Amino acid sequence: MSDDDDFLALLRHIKEQRGFDFTGYKRASLVRRVQRRMSMVGLPTYEEYLDRLMLQPEEFKELFDTTLINVTSFFRDADAWEHLREELLPPLLKGRDGQPVRLWSAGCASGQEAYTMAMVLAELLGVEEVRERVKIYATDIDEDALAQARQASYTATQLETVPGDLAEKYFEAAGDRYVFRKELRRSVIFGRNDLVQDAPISHVDLLACRNTLMYFNAETQAQILNRMHFALRPDGILFLGKAEMLLSHSTSFRPIELRRRFFQKVATEPRDRRALVPPILPSPLPGESHDVARLRAAALLSSAAAQVVLDATGRLSVVNNRAMHLFGLTTRDVGRLFQDLEMSYRPVELRTHIDDTLAERRSTWLRDVDLARGHADPVSLDIQFVPLTDDEGATLGLTIIFNDVTQHRQLQRELEHANRQLETAYEELQSTNEELETTNEELQSTVEELETTNEELQSTNEELETMNEELQSMNDELQYTNEALRDRQDEVDRLNAFMSSVLSSLNSGVAVVDSDLRVLAWNARAEDLWGVRTDEAVGQHLLALDIGLPLDQVRAPLRVQLAAEPVGPQSFVIDAVNRRGRSLQVRVTLTDIRNHGATAPVAVLAMEVVNAEGRRADATA
Ligand SMILES: C[S@@+](CC[C@H](N)C(=O)[O-])C[C@H]1O[C@@H](n2cnc3c(N)ncnc32)[C@H](O)[C@@H]1O
Repeated sequence: MSDDDDFLALLRHIKEQRGFDFTGYKRASLVRRVQRRMSMVGLPTYEEYLDRLMLQPEEFKELFDTTLINVTSFFRDADAWEHLREELLPPLLKGRDGQPVRLWSAGCASGQEAYTMAMVLAELLGVEEVRERVKIYATDIDEDALAQARQASYTATQLETVPGDLAEKYFEAAGDRYVFRKELRRSVIFGRNDLVQDAPISHVDLLACRNTLMYFNAETQAQILNRMHFALRPDGILFLGKAEMLLSHSTSFRPIELRRRFFQKVATEPRDRRALVPPILPSPLPGESHDVARLRAAALLSSAAAQVVLDATGRLSVVNNRAMHLFGLTTRDVGRLFQDLEMSYRPVELRTHIDDTLAERRSTWLRDVDLARGHADPVSLDIQFVPLTDDEGATLGLTIIFNDVTQHRQLQRELEHANRQLETAYEELQSTNEELETTNEELQSTVEELETTNEELQSTNEELETMNEELQSMNDELQYTNEALRDRQDEVDRLNAFMSSVLSSLNSGVAVVDSDLRVLAWNARAEDLWGVRTDEAVGQHLLALDIGLPLDQVRAPLRVQLAAEPVGPQSFVIDAVNRRGRSLQVRVTLTDIRNHGATAPVAVLAMEVVNAEGRRADATA
C-alpha cells in the first residue's frame, strides 16, 4: 500500500471509531499534524500508528489534541469587534426591535469568542436585556475545548486582550484565575456540533465562524457555507476570520466590510434585472435629409453590439449586421413574427422577457447567456431589452441589444481563479501560522519543563556538593585518626619488640596470662623448658597446655594472684619433668600487673629450675 492509501486507511478508522471525518480538511496541514503526533510517540509509519490506535484507544484523545488547533483569544482582531459593536450591531438590534436575537459562534474552541459576543451585546443592551432576549450558541467538535469553555475560567495572560474596564465588569477573580460572570454565562449555550456533518442552528442573526473554515478544503468549505447560508436570517451577518475571504462564494454572501470580513446573506434567487430610464427613439428631425437618415441606419447596422428591433406587433423590423452574423438571420427574416424565429427561444427563451419588458415599460437585462456557434468559439452575452415609446408614451416596439461580454467573463473567471488561489494561499498561511503558534506554545511548555528539571538538577547538585564537602571533611578526620592509630601501632610494635627482647633475655621461663588464664606471652626459655613453641602456646588456656609442670598446683595461687584484691608476689617450688623427660625442681614466682583498674589484671609466671638446695640450676642440665 502507498503512503497515501495508509493515510486514508487511518482517516477511515478515525471516522468509523470516533465519527470524526477528517477527509474534508486541507491535506498538507493535516498530514503535518498527524505526523507530528506520530513522531511524539516514536512511530514512523501510518500503519504502525493505526495499530497503536487500535490497541490503545486513549491515543485518539492525544491525536485530536494535536490535529484540532484551538488557538483563540478574547476580542481577536479587535478592530473587527469594534466595527461590529459600533456599526453593524446597532441597526441589526434596532431591526429586531425587542425580538429574540440569536448568535452562533461556530468553532468556538475554549469559549473566548462566545464570551466576547456576550460582552459586546451587554455593552449595547445591558446585562438584563441580554439575559432576556439574547441566546449565544457556541459549538465545536472538540469536547475537551467545550469542557474548558463551560468552565469559563481563564488565566491573567488570557485576559490580557479584554479591555480593562470590561475585564473588571464581566470577570470575577477566583484564586489566580478569572471567571466570566454567571448572569451573562447563562445566555451562552455550549454544545458539540460538527460543521461537516451536523445540522446547523437556524434563524441566526450573527454567525461568527472564525479561523475554522480555513482548515477545510474548498469543496468542504462550500458545503459548510451552504449550511451557514441556511442558518442565517435573510439579513443575517456572517463574521469570518481575517484570512478568510469568501471571494469564491460571492453569490450567496456579499461583503459588507470586506477588510474586516463581514458578509451579508444574499437571497438565493438573484434578480438580474436592472431598471434603466427607457430611451425614446429619436423622432425624425424636421428637415432631416435622406442622407442623414441613411447615415443613422448605417450607424445602427454597423454597431459592434448585435441588435434587433421589433415593432409593436412583434415583427422583426430592423436587424443589424452583427445580429445577422450571430443568429444566422437574413434580410428575408425582416417582417416575420419574432416568435417564429429560432433566436426567440434558442439559446434562451426571450419571449417572456419581451412580454415582461413591454408590460413593465422599463429596460430589463438577462445576463450570462452562453451562445454555442458550431465550429466557432461560444460567446457569452448580456442581453438588454429596451421598450421603445413615442413622445406621448405610446409603445412603438422594442429593441434587443446583445452585448458580447465573452472577454469580460473570461477575465472575470481568471480573476476569480486568481482570487481563489490567493484566498487559499492566505488561508494556508494563516493556518500554518496558527500551527506555529500551537507548536510555539508546546515548545514553551517544554522549555518550562526543562527549566523546572534544570532547577531540580541544580538543587540536587547543590545537595551533592554539600554532601561532598561533608564527606571530604570526614575523610580528613579519618585520615588524621588513621595517622594517630598508625603512630599508636608503631608505639605498640616498639613496646612489643621491647617486651619480647626483655622476655627472651630472661633466664627463667616466663608465661603471661590474662584473667581467663589465656596465654598472652611465652618466652624462649619457656619454649626450651617445656618443648612448646610460642605460636603453639599464645592464645591457649594455660591449664590446657601439655607441659611437664603440674599446672593443677599452679591454678589456685594463680586465681589468688588475679583476684580483685591485689596480693604480693607468691613463690613456691614444685617437682616437674622437662621436655627431655628429666625430673627437676622448678621455682614458680607469680606476680601481677594492674593498670589502675582500667583493664583486668594479668599474671606473670616466672619458672626457674633450682637444685636440691633451692638454688638456681642450669635448666638444660
Ligand atoms: C483555531 S480555532 C478558532 C477559534 C475561534 N473561532 C477563533 O477564531 O479564535 C478552530 C476551532 O475549530 C474547531 N473545529 C475543527 N473542525 C471542526 C468541525 N468539523 N466542526 C466544528 N468545529 C471544528 C476546532 O476544534 C477548533 O476549536
